[in-house]
Amino acid sequence: MRLAPQTSIFARMTALARACNAINLAQGLMELSADPALLQELSHQAAAPVHQYTLPAGLPALREVVSHLSQHYFGTPYDPETEVTITVGATEAIYTAIAALSEPGDPIVFLEPAYDSYLPAIQMANAQPIPLRLREPTFSLPWEELDAAFSRGARLCLLNFPHNPTGRRLYPDDLLNFRQLAERHPQAIFIIDEAYELMVWEPDEPLPARPLSLRQDPLLRERSILIGSLGKLLGMTGWRLGYTLAPQPLTTAIRTVRQFISFCAPSLLQATAAAYLQTHIDRATYFHPTLLQRRQLTKTLLAQYTAFPPLTCEGSYFFLLPIRDYTDERDAVLAERLTQAYGVATIPLSPFYHDGYDPGYLRLCFARPEEVLTEGIRRLGQAFPPKVPPNGHPL
Ligand SMILES: Cc1ncc(COP(=O)(O)O)c(C=O)c1O
Repeated sequence: MRLAPQTSIFARMTALARACNAINLAQGLMELSADPALLQELSHQAAAPVHQYTLPAGLPALREVVSHLSQHYFGTPYDPETEVTITVGATEAIYTAIAALSEPGDPIVFLEPAYDSYLPAIQMANAQPIPLRLREPTFSLPWEELDAAFSRGARLCLLNFPHNPTGRRLYPDDLLNFRQLAERHPQAIFIIDEAYELMVWEPDEPLPARPLSLRQDPLLRERSILIGSLGKLLGMTGWRLGYTLAPQPLTTAIRTVRQFISFCAPSLLQATAAAYLQTHIDRATYFHPTLLQRRQLTKTLLAQYTAFPPLTCEGSYFFLLPIRDYTDERDAVLAERLTQAYGVATIPLSPFYHDGYDPGYLRLCFARPEEVLTEGIRRLGQAFPPKVPPNGHPL
């Protein structure tokens, strides 16, 4: 299927932020200082003979590292030879998995609000999108609807944990429910976008949480394709490195398609990522202290300058700001007005729904330098100042 010309909401809001010279809290940019050891490794590798095509499955050393990451953080091994594939970012992995595993017209279930590449990826594969809504205000999963979709014959289900844009992570109860679904529907296969796989936080404490994944259940492991983003893990999203983890038959299908899309990911960057993570696996969480500190700062600034109580961010680096108590404007209209009149850009949630449904939230990215967060939130507060009761103490 040929897609209609379109520009993503991230590109649109970023362009508007530039045009208005506004603070950009919209796009999911990771503005974090790279680990000097990673940059050193990059120049070291650049002098090595690593500049030709790698195997389409990816550099063996990097596949081993990715397998080790899964073993180390989730206790679930994958065979680097037959179950791990390096991709050009999670984005390529998502499209490839869908294209490799679906037939034209196949129903593919996915959950909204949904990351922007899911619907186009399903459409490009000529499959049939079946969007289901997460349930507000906690964005819990619509279990009965999932069950019904599988009962009507859906085979593929595209999931995302930790979830962009809501920051929701997976809980042990969810894992049990997914297991029951898999038992009830033997045809079900889960494609799970875990681009933020290790970025999980304790809700109200400045602490990382224990990551959880469908791969930890043996039945679900056999019926899942896990998708990771080394770009996010290394804080180098422009490097375009990602991967899939899947049992051999699913991996074979993915590799078959992928070799004809990009053939392989950039060899120098694969070699650098492998060498960097090989020596210290805990470098996979290098940015976590900074992200936690910025999450805390964002909460404090929102309470100090604005009327918004943010929803808890349990994963990724986004907060949702509920706007319905303060305005009847559509979220996209408000986001544009805030950018133009107050000089701060955020992302409205309605473009994360295929039908433009507007649940009344703006998304804010906190992977930004402190001074950017401070000025951006101060500007948000000019539009939505804290409610001050007669005794003068902010509510
Ligand atoms: C949920 C989700 N999946 C996938 C991606 C894309 O990851 P990558 O940059 O590795 O292609 C993003 C990027 O923001 C994302 O938020």
